[in-house]
Amino acid sequence: MERAQLEELLYQSLETERGGVRIYEKAVMSAQNDDLKKEWSEYLEQTRNHERIMLRVLGVFRLSPETETPGRQIIRAKGQALVDSMDASKADPVAAQLVAAECVVEAESKDHMNWELIGEVAGKLTGDERKTLQDAHSEVEEQEDEHLYHTMGWARELWLESLGLPAVLPPPEEKKHTKSAIGAERAKQDRKQML
Ligand SMILES: [Fe+2]
Ligand SMILES: [Fe+2]
Repeated sequence: MERAQLEELLYQSLETERGGVRIYEKAVMSAQNDDLKKEWSEYLEQTRNHERIMLRVLGVFRLSPETETPGRQIIRAKGQALVDSMDASKADPVAAQLVAAECVVEAESKDHMNWELIGEVAGKLTGDERKTLQDAHSEVEEQEDEHLYHTMGWARELWLESLGLPAVLPPPEEKKHTKSAIGAERAKQDRKQML
């Protein structure tokens, strides 16, 4: 395995979680639906914990959490752009909630991929590094599935509601506790019966 690229993945994962905290702090304020506000408040707490987990991981890999890499800077700039877009849409509550849901989906796409990759690399390592990454992965993996797939469901249903069309709220992904891409597809197919 390319050691430098593994380290890059770990730095980017920390940066993604840090950006995620700021994105959720804003998104919670933009949520109009009470169930969504509660959901995102939980995800905010989980994301704060993911940041702590990544700091622990970097410690085991003997990496400084403040080391800059070009990849980290890009993630930070993208996260800032998402926060700015939520700020810019504040005036209209319906629009602000939709923008927030889309911002969370974008941020969580990267977060989800990071953790999938961490799961892949963990098994190729040995000793403390292997154990630390495997433990971190098993603690975080299901939460990341929910962050991404459930928020995708919220974004779709809130858009439908804003269009004046029938919407399933909370979304089917939430009710069916979706934790995989296949499950998300199934939840989408089942939504018609849930209306
Ligand atoms: Fe996370
Ligand atoms: Fe996440």
